[in-house]
Amino acid sequence: MKILVTASILLLVTFSAFAAADGAAVYKAKCASCHAADGSGTTSMGKAMKLRDLGSAEVQKQTDAELLTVTADGKAKMPAYKGKLTDEELKALVAHMRTFKK
Ligand code: HEC
Repeated sequence: MKILVTASILLLVTFSAFAAADGAAVYKAKCASCHAADGSGTTSMGKAMKLRDLGSAEVQKQTDAELLTVTADGKAKMPAYKGKLTDEELKALVAHMRTFKK
């Protein structure tokens, strides 16, 4: 019995560690190929698509909800991530994009 309790506590701890989405890691894996690691959009893909710098005033003046909607639903050549990323990951991505603010 004691072993079972200990095992379940360990499992819970492991799951909560995973639940806290790592915005920086998700961004690097899913977004940096177009938007560049620093959000500047200076990758060859980003330049070809004329991406705005995610840290620029034009992008940063948008609300969290607006940035989340673009990420979830996509826009023009921007792929939609709804269904591919969890709500937690989408929120963590918005928080990560705020770190690009100049
Ligand atoms: C295949 C290339 C590509 C990938 C990968 C990509 N994007 Fe984009 N993104 C775009 C393009 C193209 C636009 C510009 C759409 C438009 O307004 O014409 C854009 C626009 C945006 C905008 C709006 C910026 C603005 O100019 O207002 C946000 C926010 C954004 N992307 C976030 C993300 C996030 C977060 C990820 C990763 C989950 C991501 N993007 C992955 C191509 C990409």
